[in-house]
Amino acid sequence: MWVKDLTDTFMHSLIKNKQLIRRQLFINNKWLNEANGDTFSVFNPFDASSLGQVADGTVAETEQAIRSAQDAFEPWKALAAIDRSRILRRWFDLIMENQEDLAVLLTLEQGKPLAEARGEIAYGVSYVEWFAEEARRVYGDTIPAPDGNKRTVVLKQPVGVVAAITPWNFPNAMITRKVAPALAAGCTVVLKPSDETPYSALALAYLAQEAGFPPGIFNVITTKRPIEVGEVLTSSRLVRKLSFTGSTAVGRLLMKQCANTVKKLSLELGGNAPLIVFDDADIDQAVEGAINSKFRNAGQTCVCANRIYVQQGMYDRFLEKFKEAVVSLKAGSGLEKEVTIGPLINQSAVIKVDSLIRQAVDSGAELYLKGGKADESLIYQPVILTDVRSDMRISEEEVFGPVASVFRFETPEEVIELANDTEAGLAAYFFSQNNALIWEVAEALDYGMVGINTGIISDVAAPFGGVKQSGFGREGSKYGMDDYLVTKYLSIQV
Ligand code: SIN
Repeated sequence: MWVKDLTDTFMHSLIKNKQLIRRQLFINNKWLNEANGDTFSVFNPFDASSLGQVADGTVAETEQAIRSAQDAFEPWKALAAIDRSRILRRWFDLIMENQEDLAVLLTLEQGKPLAEARGEIAYGVSYVEWFAEEARRVYGDTIPAPDGNKRTVVLKQPVGVVAAITPWNFPNAMITRKVAPALAAGCTVVLKPSDETPYSALALAYLAQEAGFPPGIFNVITTKRPIEVGEVLTSSRLVRKLSFTGSTAVGRLLMKQCANTVKKLSLELGGNAPLIVFDDADIDQAVEGAINSKFRNAGQTCVCANRIYVQQGMYDRFLEKFKEAVVSLKAGSGLEKEVTIGPLINQSAVIKVDSLIRQAVDSGAELYLKGGKADESLIYQPVILTDVRSDMRISEEEVFGPVASVFRFETPEEVIELANDTEAGLAAYFFSQNNALIWEVAEALDYGMVGINTGIISDVAAPFGGVKQSGFGREGSKYGMDDYLVTKYLSIQV
């Protein structure tokens, strides 16, 4: 059933620019309902209140969006890079003008504290600004030919229609991080955002339309049927590339589905980040880094410290200071000023985090700070577990919650082995003031990104991505455009 515009809702009362509140599919620059009028509900994770109904796109609309993106591709590719760049720049300006509304929308549907949501909008839009600039720097190459009568020239061209599948933990930034480089390169996009957080995606689409992207360049299919829609996106011969951020399990499945059409792929999958504190670390820096890395977004990021290893000589002092810092965090509604930890995304997340803690405690870990769920809401008070060991599930799985698991170690060799003993290879962190040790550990960690004396590594100018089963491809930086380009070589007889 199609639900009428909720003009009098809480959400409407908080968002100044009402145009940002969109509930329909965005195809070929038109706002459309699903053919049968099917919708799905979106909830505020803080109090489970309804944020209204959004169109539940199906296979038919996904195919329509792919066709629109295909029709739009050649003219968009042919446009001068400076013209693509200017439209992206206008999109950047409009997102910045609407930063506060976009942040409120994000907090309402995702739960993170408003200050963090504002930060996410600024972080997300930095990809639009960056790739508006990079659009003009897609360089090819010339190569000396083996034969004097020949010339060898290398062109970089847009890969074609891109399917982007994005997660709920960064409802804004994970979209711009894919869509901005794709559009800058001359590709067109069909986006399927998470069904937990469709509003942020639709608001970005509205602003893209306002910025002047021609029809078909950027299409958004909101849906509660991820399997069916995912199958269309991965099996379509018109879609030439898939970019996905999410779990390793889903990434594997999408990779298999893309095999039939041999699509270019970027996969940013799960992590299991170690954070190592050596005896010679600056303790305050280490505590601050651990708090930033572990508790950002209530522990729901792929780069969150999942295993905190502390060297013997530092262990007790670190734990004491770390606990002091953790108890000063405030969990609650993201709209409340003092709150630093919002709710978990849904009930299944709570059940998973609870079960990881229970299994660790049953196997001998100590609840150094109890925390956990205090009431019926999805608010999860921070937890510290000590005496955690590698054979516990909590050290093997991505926790995705505000739970710090602390391990004790003795030597650098031992901790490097422990840190690398995982299928994941996204982010790692360590804290030390010893220059020689810093280089040794930085080079030995089998991860795509390593934070040294910092818990924050996300930065538009740096290549974001993992190794091993955390996926491949890089987002952001001068490398980020490559994922949306193909290399063509011309052999010219002169
Ligand atoms: C993620 O959790 O996948 C992204 C985190 C970030 O960009 O900092």
